[in-house]
Amino acid sequence: MKISATNESAASVQADAVVVGCYADGELQPAATTIDQAAAGAITGLIEAKEIVGKAGELTRILAPSGIAATQVILVGLGARDELDRRGAFRAAAAPAKLLASKQRAHVAFYLNDNWDADLVEAAICGSMTGSQGQDLYRAEKKLLPFEKISWAAAGEPVLSSGQTLGHAVALTRRLVNEPANKIYPESFADVAVDVAAKCGLEVEVWDEDKLKAERCGSLLGVSQGSTRPPRLVILRHNGGQRGDAPLALVGKGVTFDSGGLSIKPSDGMKAMKCDMAGAATVVGAMQAIAELQLPVNVIGLVGLTENMINGDAVKLGDVLTARSGKTIEVLNTDAEGRLVLADVLDVAVEQGAAKIVDLATLTGACLVALGMDTAGLMTNDQAWCDELSDAAQLCGEAAWQLPMYPEFSEQIASKVADIKNIGEGRWGGSITAAKFLEEFVQDKPWVHIDIAGPAFLDSPKPWLDAGGSGAFVRTLVELARGWRS
Ligand code: BES
Ligand code: MN
Ligand code: ZN
Repeated sequence: MKISATNESAASVQADAVVVGCYADGELQPAATTIDQAAAGAITGLIEAKEIVGKAGELTRILAPSGIAATQVILVGLGARDELDRRGAFRAAAAPAKLLASKQRAHVAFYLNDNWDADLVEAAICGSMTGSQGQDLYRAEKKLLPFEKISWAAAGEPVLSSGQTLGHAVALTRRLVNEPANKIYPESFADVAVDVAAKCGLEVEVWDEDKLKAERCGSLLGVSQGSTRPPRLVILRHNGGQRGDAPLALVGKGVTFDSGGLSIKPSDGMKAMKCDMAGAATVVGAMQAIAELQLPVNVIGLVGLTENMINGDAVKLGDVLTARSGKTIEVLNTDAEGRLVLADVLDVAVEQGAAKIVDLATLTGACLVALGMDTAGLMTNDQAWCDELSDAAQLCGEAAWQLPMYPEFSEQIASKVADIKNIGEGRWGGSITAAKFLEEFVQDKPWVHIDIAGPAFLDSPKPWLDAGGSGAFVRTLVELARGWRS
């Protein structure tokens, strides 16, 4: 998908569609006024008739308007002008993009930028790319057909480029999540990461099964031993900062399919479990953007890749694994595998000299119970670091809510035979007991855990986003790296 700037007027641009905006109470953006004047007051007529009110999310199509070069105009409601934020800007561009992608359209021109701050324009450009891409990778007849060309009016080169970088990063993450588990498994995921690294200039290191054994990653290996596909651990490095400055570490859960293992999931709970590598996909997408934006910081991305399957070698209930850190873990539920994977990857992150850590994981169904489908759970051992992450998410319009890490929750993961066990007592507070388990492996480094079990994968579509992989938190991670001071 090609994005370019246009200097044409909204009325005369040759395009299949022009997208213009209207604030609350029918206040037209300048480009919408241009269209209205060329089309003999067509839009103001609709406002007077209360067909258009400018509410956020409102979409009005005007087909074959007279006096306009484009085939159709879409008028997007933007809500109150002074309340418009990045979430609103992203959706204002993504919703018309999704609507227009229902048919093959070569060129869509966006005229939403009304002297907006660069961060709003960047979010909107990212939205214009994201809305038109769907999850139907393997359908002959696609429901959503990306445009050949997108143009943006009044957008300078820097923001055109950074918006596009974010759009590509979100698309990469979504595609990785949407690919089924017979296409994306640990080796093929690692291959993608190597390709991405080569294209955008990241350093990359891939640990295969022998290396993982040599590195004593017994917890990750315990999960993978029931699968015929071998595990991988990938380390990506962006060295944009001072040599020797301790890096920010982004860690991702990459379970390419979660059957539950011997604690097997029912079919309904297993159907979408190709998405269990979304944390890893988010890290790879964000690393790509961080490299392309050439951010002046050191960042490492680490992803632990394995399937959670069942064969005769599969880990059994009651088995004790020795994690890379030396801690012993009693496995009492093989479906609590994400924390076993992350235990070793977090240990590697600490050893790699991380100053601070963020991990992302589709870790617990309990997080969906607690916060619903659209909100990520934040858990931390360092409030200031969590506030930084939370501020970045808020700026980007990505919903996240903190859950408490009271010490009482740790008692639940005490084991009678090993140092810890991999589940709590019963289901209550399951997201927090999982986070307490992870905390055991970060050696007091400032750390935030983001449970993205809800927002990473949508069961049903939104007006601005197809169902399936969402790319949630790619933009938040990039924002965090932009503000990073080690
Ligand atoms: N990958 C799942 C969590 C999940 C559930 C992600 C729904 C996305 C949507 C995870 O590995 C898991 O199975 N967790 C268990 C933990 C339990 C056994 C303590 C769960 O949530 O049921
Ligand atoms: Mn599981
Ligand atoms: Zn899982």
